[in-house]
Amino acid sequence: MRDNYALVGFMGCGKTTVGRELAKRLQCPFWDLDAAIAQGERRTIPEIFAQQGEAGFRELEHAYLKRAAGRRGVLSCGGGLALFPRNREVLSRHFTTVFLDCDFETCYQRIRASSRPLVQDKSEAEVRALFESRYPIYQACCDLQVNAAHSPFMVVQEILKQRRRHR
Ligand code: S3P
Repeated sequence: MRDNYALVGFMGCGKTTVGRELAKRLQCPFWDLDAAIAQGERRTIPEIFAQQGEAGFRELEHAYLKRAAGRRGVLSCGGGLALFPRNREVLSRHFTTVFLDCDFETCYQRIRASSRPLVQDKSEAEVRALFESRYPIYQACCDLQVNAAHSPFMVVQEILKQRRRHR
């Protein structure tokens, strides 16, 4: 397993919060891919979706992932990144991929009022369907799966514990 970590999971599962905490514990840099895209493109994620559609965003996401792949540290990935085989290939080659497994209700409470383009015009049932369709994909592509419905501190403990077991 690699010493660089990529965190995957549904929107609202805590990738950014846990990623920061994990990087602090490991004393390594933390990267948030959506933040890197927004900064590099000088636009917000909703603006990119509005101007270039989801397909345009996915192209940028893949390009920025490849750029991040050589760097040491912890990377928080957007919730849709792991759905694409070309991204999963980069993950498996460069990272220990951690699935933050969080229940739908918790994720939904965190994201329902946000500006995320894939949540905004959808009903709760539609977002739940998205969650359910993605769940097996996150599970299949990860090296470690942790219960993320705990405090960030506890989630990081669990990641490190599982990691030691795999050494
Ligand atoms: C997306 C998740 C978002 C962001 C974009 C698409 C998705 O990131 O990449 O809105 O397809 O699930 P978060 O998972 O950090 O919210």
